[in-house]
Amino acid sequence: MNYLNKLVLVNFITLLLFYLPVQAVDLKNGKTLHNENCMRCHNPSQYTREDRIVNSLDELRTRISQCEIMAEMAWFDEEIDDVTAYLNDAFYHFNIEK
Ligand code: HEC
Repeated sequence: MNYLNKLVLVNFITLLLFYLPVQAVDLKNGKTLHNENCMRCHNPSQYTREDRIVNSLDELRTRISQCEIMAEMAWFDEEIDDVTAYLNDAFYHFNIEK
């Protein structure tokens, strides 16, 4: 491998390491946020009942942000993303690859 190729590779890896943690959702954080803030009005059995109102990943995220606004928690987008990912992983199981 010549010098230039090595340089390109190192740059590529550095960029990858830099961007990966930013984009990854944090399921553990989502679970903590959910358990501490979201079980005041309903419990998880609502997520798995037969006539649940949420039927896609988009609807899930929308519903969570509506509940979050209703409960006046002023979350960041990242926090909504984490809780969406957690609920999807634990209960809804929608396909996340679009
Ligand atoms: C102030 C009360 C309240 C709080 C707090 C609340 N919710 Fe809700 N949530 C509701 C109500 C009301 C519904 C609608 C129930 C229905 O239509 O049967 C609902 C429904 C949902 C649903 C849809 C369930 C289904 O049928 O598929 C999800 C998902 C959800 N909430 C997530 C959350 C999350 C995440 C939080 C924490 C950020 C949260 N909720 C906090 C009141 C609340």
